[in-house]
Amino acid sequence: MKTIGVFTSGGDAPGMNACLRAVVRTARQFGMQVWGICRGYQGMIEGEFRTLNMRDVSNIIQLGGTILHSARSEAFRTPQGRQRAWENLKARGIEGLVAIGGDGTFTGAKAFLEEYPELRIVGAPGTIDNDLYGTDYTIGYDTAINTAMHAIDHIKDTANSHDRVFFVEVMGRDAGFIALASGIATGAEAVLIPESRTNIDALVELLRRNIAHKKWANIIVVAEGDDEGGAFEVARKVSTRLPQIEARVTVLGHVQRGGRPTCMERIRASRIGMECVRALKEGKSGIMVGIVHRDIAYTPFEQAIKHHQQINPTLLEIVRILS
Ligand code: F6P
Repeated sequence: MKTIGVFTSGGDAPGMNACLRAVVRTARQFGMQVWGICRGYQGMIEGEFRTLNMRDVSNIIQLGGTILHSARSEAFRTPQGRQRAWENLKARGIEGLVAIGGDGTFTGAKAFLEEYPELRIVGAPGTIDNDLYGTDYTIGYDTAINTAMHAIDHIKDTANSHDRVFFVEVMGRDAGFIALASGIATGAEAVLIPESRTNIDALVELLRRNIAHKKWANIIVVAEGDDEGGAFEVARKVSTRLPQIEARVTVLGHVQRGGRPTCMERIRASRIGMECVRALKEGKSGIMVGIVHRDIAYTPFEQAIKHHQQINPTLLEIVRILS
């Protein structure tokens, strides 16, 4: 394989730049030419390509976001959009792609490969949500949970000072990994996630018990995709039942998506990026390159997007027992 393309797509995640750097440098070591595709699939359709050399990825390992920019492309969902993308790749002699993104990115890659099987695509799991099957960590997750943890630490200071109950919403439309990790790490009183049914009665009972023991300050971490609604909705439901509490809501939002990647993030992203290029060179395609039990693992796109990574029930138990 002589020429490859690389792009970042979907929600940006800290560590994507480290992964990109590894892709470019590994490919150049193998003598490959590398095209960077800006704004994901949308840029592939609109012809936003730039060549990438060793020096073009200098000094980016520590940067959050993605220097290639990212987008969610409606046009790529259509066969016409994919055809234009294919023609743009062909015009530059691109034989293989490294797609850095999450389930939407791999869904697109799968459809692309079904129509143009002569192309090879491997995926690097990049999403703060950590919700892809076939990897223990996605690029961005470690940084996001540290950001959420620090933010909740700050909230705890003021919650304790004012004896308030805080409902803190963290990201995770379909997944509770960020909520669970940041909740455990901050000693939250409860963590509400989409993967387990939220019981408002039980939450009210827990807070009632805590208040009876003069524990006024409580932190409830709510994943944005919780079945009872986001933090505002949960706070409203609880407050009507417990008018004596002074409830406050904080939505952490996109602050969790940015920032300098942690050390572990940079290392894992570098390793995954390097292995993506190796996989392409070996002729692999249609797979995501993940890390399972410290080893590199290949998972077909179909499985990576179909199965959700399972929440470890022990983690929920930790919240229940230690709070
Ligand atoms: O997929 C990552 C994610 O951060 C989700 O947790 C969140 O729901 C979503 O992206 C937000 O997407 P956008 O930035 O497009 O609003």
